[in-house]
Amino acid sequence: MKMKPHQLVSFSWFLLFFLFHGSRAQPRTTGYTCRANQTTYPCQTYIFYQATSPNFLDLASIGDLFHVSRLMISQPSNISSPSSPLIPHQSLFIPITCSCNSINATFGSLSAATITYPIKEGDTFYLVSTGDFQNLTTYESVEVFNPSSVPTRLRVGDEIVFPVFCKCPNETQAQTGVNYLVSYVFQPYDNLSSVASRFGVQTQDLNNINGNEIRPFDTIFIPVNQLPILSQPEPPPEASLGKTERKGTIVGLATGLGICGVLLIVLLGVLLHRDVFPSKRDIGRVEDNDKLLSNRTVMEMKGIEVNLMADVSDCLDKYKVFNIEELREATDCFDESCLIQGSVYKGSFNGGIYAIKKMKWNACEELKILQKVNHGNLVKLEGFCIDPEDANCYLVYEFIENGCLYSWLHQNNTGKLSWKTRLRIAMDVANGLQYIHEHTSPKVVHKDIKSSNILLDNNLRAKIANFGLAKSGCNAITVHIVGTQGYIAPEYVSDGLVSTKMDVFSFGVVLLELVSGREAIDEEGKLLWASINGFLDGNETEKVEIVKGLMDRRLVEESCSMESVMNVLVVATACLNKDPARRPRMGDVVYALSKNYDLCFDVLEDGLSAPPLLAR
Ligand SMILES: *[C@@H]1O[C@H](CO)[C@@H](O)[C@H](O)[C@H]1NC(C)=O
Ligand SMILES: *[C@@H]1O[C@H](CO)[C@@H](O)[C@H](O)[C@H]1NC(C)=O
Ligand SMILES: *[C@@H]1O[C@H](CO)[C@@H](O)[C@H](O)[C@H]1NC(C)=O
Ligand SMILES: *[C@@H]1O[C@H](CO)[C@@H](O)[C@H](O)[C@H]1NC(C)=O
Ligand SMILES: *[C@@H]1O[C@H](CO)[C@@H](O)[C@H](O)[C@H]1NC(C)=O
Ligand SMILES: *[C@@H]1O[C@H](CO)[C@@H](O)[C@H](O)[C@H]1NC(C)=O
Repeated sequence: MKMKPHQLVSFSWFLLFFLFHGSRAQPRTTGYTCRANQTTYPCQTYIFYQATSPNFLDLASIGDLFHVSRLMISQPSNISSPSSPLIPHQSLFIPITCSCNSINATFGSLSAATITYPIKEGDTFYLVSTGDFQNLTTYESVEVFNPSSVPTRLRVGDEIVFPVFCKCPNETQAQTGVNYLVSYVFQPYDNLSSVASRFGVQTQDLNNINGNEIRPFDTIFIPVNQLPILSQPEPPPEASLGKTERKGTIVGLATGLGICGVLLIVLLGVLLHRDVFPSKRDIGRVEDNDKLLSNRTVMEMKGIEVNLMADVSDCLDKYKVFNIEELREATDCFDESCLIQGSVYKGSFNGGIYAIKKMKWNACEELKILQKVNHGNLVKLEGFCIDPEDANCYLVYEFIENGCLYSWLHQNNTGKLSWKTRLRIAMDVANGLQYIHEHTSPKVVHKDIKSSNILLDNNLRAKIANFGLAKSGCNAITVHIVGTQGYIAPEYVSDGLVSTKMDVFSFGVVLLELVSGREAIDEEGKLLWASINGFLDGNETEKVEIVKGLMDRRLVEESCSMESVMNVLVVATACLNKDPARRPRMGDVVYALSKNYDLCFDVLEDGLSAPPLLAR
């Protein structure tokens, strides 16, 4: 195939693009590229920003521009009184959430924090980029991110995405202790060594990341382990009185929840874009004082049933905010000996024992959901802690003594579960699921029901844990498939369809685990749920054969189990229907399971007509 000259030219551009990809600064006019598969995206990072006259001389207006609260800026910027005015050129660090945004196949992905900005009278992409955003983005890049907006035909109120240049440390950088790549606009009076010494880093490191051809007003990235402490002018004396006692807590909380806010905005942006929630709803009053979101942002959130402000105040009322020192002490500085599993530690303090889960900023979804739910079959959240230094969030739960169902069923070191206990566990889990599916508003989908997320207490009663993947709101489509092999519903894998019925499916798999004592997926990759195919089609003898083949050896000698196991398998089969619409609701499952339980046990316990066979 022969190439025409213009094809050749664009092909060599294409090559150049790839040659330089990742090694050096990218074309600066449209921003900086990122690999869509870089695991460190998205990340929380900071931009260096200077207060300017006349519009940006207080934290509230700067916070409005970037959709963050004043506290979220004052804290990393070493400003003790968020409400006092700033002086021109006062230095600030503003937190942003940096993500890798895929543009199109030729263009690849650009690394940016996408900040929406409503156009005002007289604005152009150029003026807002070079003015309000201080060259942290360029008008060319704004055009790339807003392909449907015509730059010459902007109307007041148009919502434009301004991509603020940022980068997340790549895997190697993260390993060498780089926590943030701070976005900094190189000023005409700067040179690399002066910038390096200001941030306490090596000039060579700046060179490695930003190359040698840095022009004034280019955005460069400064690799730091932690933010340098800015020295700030003395605040007016009266400002810091009276509030000092709880400051640490509140600031930390605001940081964490503020990050949530940013994430939430991103999420809501996506949702709104898809018109998932067409109805309008007032989202509530925003307190000016500790304002987390600007009024405009609140307007953007219209129609969403999640009230962030209410969430925040709920947290404050209902939960204890722990101190990071407290948690460190309780867990021997998060020593491995205190590890329960994953990132969950056991810690004892204040005379109680707790399970402490360490997370990055993504704790928020779980926090938001857990504060809405309260049910005996869900693990209870006791409080949380936000460590502003490394942006870690800790969720503190009640500690459940007997570990997870998985180890009871599949590991030998724990005791034996009788059929009665297994049935009760199934009912407990079903009750917990019914509650989140049918009695919360908006509905919550757990998305990761499996035996290792079911915990057993002292009395072997079950509680559902780990709402880390849970989603509120239903019938959403996700592109990012999460969950656990062996439990995931087929429609979720194929279409990304999220609904309560995917939990019903996973619950069906748990029922099979309880019956069979086998794992959801065996060493050869065989799915447990496939073993029940055709169960309902068989005649009675065939069914009995299947039940015998499937049933846990440890149950066979128990009385009453056969008929009851058969009933449970019928429920499981219904839950595992490939068509989500034909799966039962959790309410139906609870009903069927309790009837089965009564049939087998309650009669006996009540002393009524107990068949002699069942007596022990
Ligand atoms: C990420 O994708 C690039 C190609 O786009 C590939 O070269 C690289 O190996 C991938 N890295 C990982 C960690 O998968
Ligand atoms: C941004 O860059 C332009 C030149 O490209 C310059 O005129 C302007 O002063 C810069 N803005 C700021 C806030 O430094
Ligand atoms: C990719 O995006 C760039 C920037 O918006 C645009 O110029 C280009 O035409 C797009 N290419 C394709 C194939 O859509
Ligand atoms: C960098 O700037 C500082 C003052 O800002 C100056 O003292 C120093 O000589 C400059 N270094 C170089 C290499 O230009
Ligand atoms: C990370 O970035 C540095 C500096 O740009 C580069 O030298 C290194 O190869 C990158 N590592 C990976 C895994 O991409
Ligand atoms: C914060 O700013 C004040 C005032 O400039 C300064 O004295 C102090 O050392 C800075 N650092 C911290 C950690 O407070």
